[in-house]
Amino acid sequence: MNKLALVRCEHFNAAHRLHNANWSDEKNKEVFGKCNNPNYHGHNYELEVKVIGFCNKDTGYVIDTKVLSDLIEEKVLDRFDHKNLNLDTEEFKTLNPTVENIAIVIYDILKTEIEPNLELKIKLYETPRNYVEYPY
Ligand code: NI
Repeated sequence: MNKLALVRCEHFNAAHRLHNANWSDEKNKEVFGKCNNPNYHGHNYELEVKVIGFCNKDTGYVIDTKVLSDLIEEKVLDRFDHKNLNLDTEEFKTLNPTVENIAIVIYDILKTEIEPNLELKIKLYETPRNYVEYPY
């Protein structure tokens, strides 16, 4: 049997502020720089959702792309697109919305929604030059 990966690319815009409430304003500014701006700022996030597994004998699919895209839209994009991550979402009320943490949160949301025999990997671009991969 041939194992392969199916990748779905999606996009969302969101605002955030990186901040550690346990630190002074000076330390936050020093560590997070512009991303600590008190009035928030936005990013155009590019999301790649990779599903790895074997082709289903009946469909020839690893996963139905329509099912996958609906899942991402409903569980991820509806939740985060055009939102202020710090203010508008439960996930990042206390968790710092770094690109790392956003990727982990997205993975945890989607992992519970796909069949357990399928592997899942998330690639999330915060800028064209910065992205994270999870799990690694
Ligand atoms: Ni930022």
